[in-house]
Amino acid sequence: MTTPTPTFTNPRAQHGFKGRTCSILAVGSYMPARVLTNQELERRVQTSDEWITTRTGIKERRLAADDEYTSDLATRAAEAAMKRGGIAASQIDLIIVATITPDMSCPATACLVQQKLGATRAAAFDIEAACSGFVYGLEIGQQFIMSRTYETILVIGAEKLSSVVNWNDRNTCVLFGDGAGAAILQHRPAAHGLLTACMGANGEKSELIYVPAGGSRNPATAETVARAWHYLHMDGKETFKSAVTAMYNAGAEALRRCKLTISQIKCVICHQANRRIIDAVGERLGARPEQVFVNLDKYGNTSAASVAIALDEAVESGRIQRGDLVLLVVFGAGLTWASAVIEW
Ligand code: ACO
Repeated sequence: MTTPTPTFTNPRAQHGFKGRTCSILAVGSYMPARVLTNQELERRVQTSDEWITTRTGIKERRLAADDEYTSDLATRAAEAAMKRGGIAASQIDLIIVATITPDMSCPATACLVQQKLGATRAAAFDIEAACSGFVYGLEIGQQFIMSRTYETILVIGAEKLSSVVNWNDRNTCVLFGDGAGAAILQHRPAAHGLLTACMGANGEKSELIYVPAGGSRNPATAETVARAWHYLHMDGKETFKSAVTAMYNAGAEALRRCKLTISQIKCVICHQANRRIIDAVGERLGARPEQVFVNLDKYGNTSAASVAIALDEAVESGRIQRGDLVLLVVFGAGLTWASAVIEW
C-alpha cells in the first residue's frame, strides 16, 4: 500500500522565502555501556522499581564511565552520524553542542569535540537551553544553512547528567541518564527538510530546575558543596504542569504554521522526561499512541540528548522513512521549550 503524499505548507515559502532549505542528512547516537537499573537504585535510595515505573515510565538508564566525558559521548554520536552521512571531518563548517553538563565551564565542549573529530575547519560553540537544546540547535544551524554561511553543520545534544545528579536525592537521581545524539545539517536539493521551528522561554520560572552553585552567583566553595548546591535541583510537580502546557502549545503552533493536522505526522518525538508527560502531550495533540515514539524506559531523561537519541532510534528502526513528517517537541530548564516539523 502506498502512503498518500502529504500536503503541507512550508511556512518559509509562505513568507516569500526563496533561498535554500535545510535538511537533516544523517543522525547518529551513542549510549554509554553501563546500565543502571531501577533495582540498583532501590539499593541506593528509598525508592522502588514500582514507584519509578508508574510515576515516570523509566526502567533503566545509562551511565558514562568515570573517564568518559560529555565531549567523548558527543564525539561518538557525531562519528556515527558522519559515517551514515558519508561526511568527512574536513567537510564540517560548524559544530554546535547543546548541553548542561559541559566538560568544563570554559572552554566550550564543542571545541573539544572539534579537536577529537579533527574537524579543523569548523567553528564551534555550545548552547545552553537544557532539554530544549537540541531543537534550539537545529534552528540555529538551519539559519546558517539557509543564509549560505555554511554548507555542513553538526548539531549535537550530549549530556553526562550523572555528574550533576545528587545520588542521595530520590526526587531526582532516578530520573536522569547519560548519552548523546547528533545530526548533520545540509541543504538537500528537492527536499523541504526543516519546515518550521518554534522556540520559547520563561525565565520567571528559572528556579524550577537549576544548579544553584558553580556560576557567578554562587562560585564553588566548601559551603556550596556542603549544601549540595552543585547538584541539579528540581521542583518536579510544578515542572510537570508547565511541561505539559508548554509542550502542547509548542507542538500545536508548529502544526498550525505548516497547515498540518496531527494525522499527517508519521512520528511525534517528545522530550523523554516522563511517560505521563509524553502521553498527556500526545493525547492533547490528538496523536494516536502508535504515532508517539518512546525510548525513555531504556535511557531516562538525557536532557539535550533526549530527542536526538530518539530521532536516531526512530530512523534506524524504520519508524521514520524519507518523506515522512516528524514533529519534535521539547521542554526543559529555563524554562525553555521548542518544537520543529521536519520532512524527513
Ligand atoms: N521513590 C519513591 N518516592 C518518591 C521518589 C522516588 N524516587 N521521588 C519522590 N518520591 C515521593 C515524594 O517524596 C512524595 O512523597 P510525599 O507525598 O510523602 O511528599 C511523593 O513521592 C510524590 O512526589 P511528587 O513529586 O508529587 O511525584 P510526582 O508524581 O509529581 O512525580 C516526578 C515526580 C517524576 C519528578 C514528576 O513530577 C516529573 O516527571 N516532573 C517533570 C520533570 C521534567 O519534565 N523535567 C524536564 C526538564 S529536566 C531538565 O531540563 C534538565
